Amino acid sequence: MSNPLWEARADLVVVGTGVAGLTAALRARELGLRVLVLTKASGEDGNTRWAQGGVAVVLPGEHDEGDSVDAHVRDTLVAGAGLCDEAAVRAIIEGGPAAVARLRERGAVFDAAPTGGLARTREGGHSAFRVVHAGGDATGAEVERALLAAASDGRVPVLEQHVAVDAIRTPLGQVCGLLVLDGNGVPGVLSAPAVLLASGGLGQLYQATSNPEVATGDGLALALRAGAVAADVEFVQFHPTVLYTGRGARGRCPLVTEAVRGEGAVLVDALGARVMRGVHPQEDLAPRDVVAAAITRHMAAGPGGVDDHVFLDATGISDFARRFPTVHAACLQAGVDPAREPIPVAPAAHFACGGVVSDVDGRTGVTGLYAAGEVARTGLHGANRLASNSLLEGLVVGTRAAEAVAADLALNVLARCSAAVTAELPTAPVAARDSLQRVMSRYAAIGRDAEGLAVVGSVLDLSTADRVLDTRELVEDAALTVAARALIAAAAEREESRGCHVRTDFTERDEVRWQRSQVVRLNPSGQPVLADPVVEMGVA
Ligand code: SIN
Repeated sequence: MSNPLWEARADLVVVGTGVAGLTAALRARELGLRVLVLTKASGEDGNTRWAQGGVAVVLPGEHDEGDSVDAHVRDTLVAGAGLCDEAAVRAIIEGGPAAVARLRERGAVFDAAPTGGLARTREGGHSAFRVVHAGGDATGAEVERALLAAASDGRVPVLEQHVAVDAIRTPLGQVCGLLVLDGNGVPGVLSAPAVLLASGGLGQLYQATSNPEVATGDGLALALRAGAVAADVEFVQFHPTVLYTGRGARGRCPLVTEAVRGEGAVLVDALGARVMRGVHPQEDLAPRDVVAAAITRHMAAGPGGVDDHVFLDATGISDFARRFPTVHAACLQAGVDPAREPIPVAPAAHFACGGVVSDVDGRTGVTGLYAAGEVARTGLHGANRLASNSLLEGLVVGTRAAEAVAADLALNVLARCSAAVTAELPTAPVAARDSLQRVMSRYAAIGRDAEGLAVVGSVLDLSTADRVLDTRELVEDAALTVAARALIAAAAEREESRGCHVRTDFTERDEVRWQRSQVVRLNPSGQPVLADPVVEMGVA
């Protein structure tokens, strides 16, 4: 064991500067906790900033006629394809109005409706116009701006360019801090009785994604190594419409928000035929998994003459540039004028519906370890997330997690590290990122089968070596490796199609065998294995 080279202490360490992390940090500070936030990049480099659509919420006295919390709950359960936890769904959706009010108090400015109140739009799977937005299609950027500004008074220190490597645990397994690499790669320790993972998702498992570079599944991997369990990891949501910029797109692709369809745009192929006609009663506003899978099938069948994209015809939206300034700018940069011509689009990896098993207060099964936002699996999303429920979840669960930490500290149930913490950088299996992304995109995206998933396993076997996690890149690659292993284990076992998990060899939904979540944990040699959901989560 070696001593860390530097050390800092807090009551709560938050990993991530997205909506969940900053919301939790601000609430924790209000509750009098000493809080430290760390991010491996800079404050504004997370996923939140790229969220376009908005926050799904039914505001009292400001909703469509007939809309209600019950209707929002219903839409979420339908989108989640039978795997949501209804109690969690209700708790989070009911918390929405207060969460949005708090965010506005912190300075976030939402778009106003000409008739008064907040403007509302609609996205796939929503039965009403209930998505409030900011800057037209720049909701995430405004949420992040407001939260970072609120945190910038020095009472919420943000350590930028610091990578969380591993949880530090007491001999009884309670988390009491983090082993971290600073911006120069120097290891150090953040001691805290509570660690909240709010580190986002894992879109970088795939070659093309709407997610930024930082979305490498680090929080999921860290939690698994700390003894937590994950669930629903096979359900990676592909957004139906990122901007198609040419064959073989890599990395973060500009999103074309679903709100464009909410305001009348339709998906067509190269011949102008409607992609969603006859596929689902809600056509272009069907839940996201249905639309992404339909586009994928349409591209494979090639009826419109192209095999890797379709088009989004938004020429009927008269004030496109004003309503969707971010999308408009990205289109113009790609040489497309959405006012005059259909926008070329294709599905890309967007959101991890599963993650670290946690309750709506952010508590995981490991004392001292909490999770909120995309890294967490609260049961809100099930097998497919309803559009714009993620900022909502980050706001509600971020707040509740800070309150849970304060309560747990007051009850004295959390552990503090011993005075002299020693820790060693861990060794973990690391696969070559390029091969991993290539095989995941080819065999574990929309449309999977047993043979392809086995190919992913073999490629990972061949390209994986044990490495000491002493750089940010190795921490990320180890996280992607464990996330890929967890995903393919769960995807291979689930012999049905449901939500975002589309099997070409088991095309039907199987309510008898598969109306249940799968749970993953690490075995003693560090490999993800399926575990018993009854034992791990108390669910049948
Ligand atoms: C979108 O605006 O289409 C994405 C928003 C979301 O993923 O909820």
